[in-house]
Amino acid sequence: MVPRMPTWKVPLADVVVPEDDIAAVADVYRSGWLSMGPQTAAFEEELAAYTGAGHALAVANGTVGLHLMAVGIGLEAGDEVIVPSLTFVATPNAVAYTGAAPVFADVAGLDAPWLSAAAVEPLITPRTKAIFNMTYGGFAGEARELRRLADEHGVVLLEDAAHAIGGRLDGTQIGRSGLAGGFSFFSNKNLAIGEGGAVVTDDDELAARMRLLRSHGMTTLTWDRHRGHAAGYDVVALGFNYRIDEPRAALARRRLVRLDAETEDRARVAARYDERLGDLTGIAPALVARDGDRPAHHLYTVVLDEMIDRDAFRERLAERGIQTSMHYPPAHRFSIYLEAPHGPLPVTDVYAARAVTLPLYAHMTEADQDLVIDAVVDALP
Ligand SMILES: Cc1ncc(COP(=O)(O)O)c(C=O)c1O
Repeated sequence: MVPRMPTWKVPLADVVVPEDDIAAVADVYRSGWLSMGPQTAAFEEELAAYTGAGHALAVANGTVGLHLMAVGIGLEAGDEVIVPSLTFVATPNAVAYTGAAPVFADVAGLDAPWLSAAAVEPLITPRTKAIFNMTYGGFAGEARELRRLADEHGVVLLEDAAHAIGGRLDGTQIGRSGLAGGFSFFSNKNLAIGEGGAVVTDDDELAARMRLLRSHGMTTLTWDRHRGHAAGYDVVALGFNYRIDEPRAALARRRLVRLDAETEDRARVAARYDERLGDLTGIAPALVARDGDRPAHHLYTVVLDEMIDRDAFRERLAERGIQTSMHYPPAHRFSIYLEAPHGPLPVTDVYAARAVTLPLYAHMTEADQDLVIDAVVDALP
């Protein structure tokens, strides 16, 4: 028996795979077909219906989904794309893989750590091809303002919605404010399947292009040939192998059915943190929903006063078995992006120095949450 992980008393994120899900995955292993096929097709149909998008493509992980979006809109060397620095490095990487340059812009505030439309606007040049929003913590952020800006300047809006599956902006799935949005189904994400991701778009042409690029630029799939629906293929573009496999697609289908209930559970945990931590001195909840935003609550993040030693604070929680993290070390500080162009990033730098992410998962009990809350109270001066 593989031991249950992790060993923290209260981990940052936690995955539970019910026996019924394991049985559904085991059935796929017995079916005789493991690579992209009918489970994937069914998941894509269900995800398109769930998100309301015209097209949903399941992929091997969130990062390659973002890359498909970047290649799909035709990015190339000489182009610029405005991205937040306060994001996982996969966002700027997806741009850089194409030869285009990520240009880092600041976030909106310590209680709004998402790309600021006001910070983006002065960075738009004739070379700017796209703005890449990242829906931090599962919040839509300034998606509406960024959409307006993108339309005004005739550039594309893309969204890295890795955190946001199940979240809504004005009733629509977060990640659908631009031409395309990408989700991650990595182990710590809201719809966790290990490795996996998906891209959604309403644009038929972009969807067809991304579909082609997902599987080597080949005009038919192995599954089509297996079923006798196709005999051969041509290769019409420089594509990749970014396919998901059937067991993970089957698990994603099971999890999608429970996603809304789990998002409500996450919202309850987040609201309880807000209530218990909101009035403490020295700490402030960082993620404040804007009008119309019904977030996916992927993260619960606080910002410490500048007088508080963050490392010591995190160490005191760790001593009590509570895992914390920091989302994110800003990308413009990584060696690989030190020379990358950027605007002023004062909020990003302050946030990155003072933010702490606390444990949050759908099945978190009040008792587990109280362990975190008590440890936070004790760790504050
Ligand atoms: C903001 C963000 N973008 C992109 C990714 C990449 O997703 P994946 O790990 O599925 O490749 C992640 C998750 O790790 C993420 O948090």
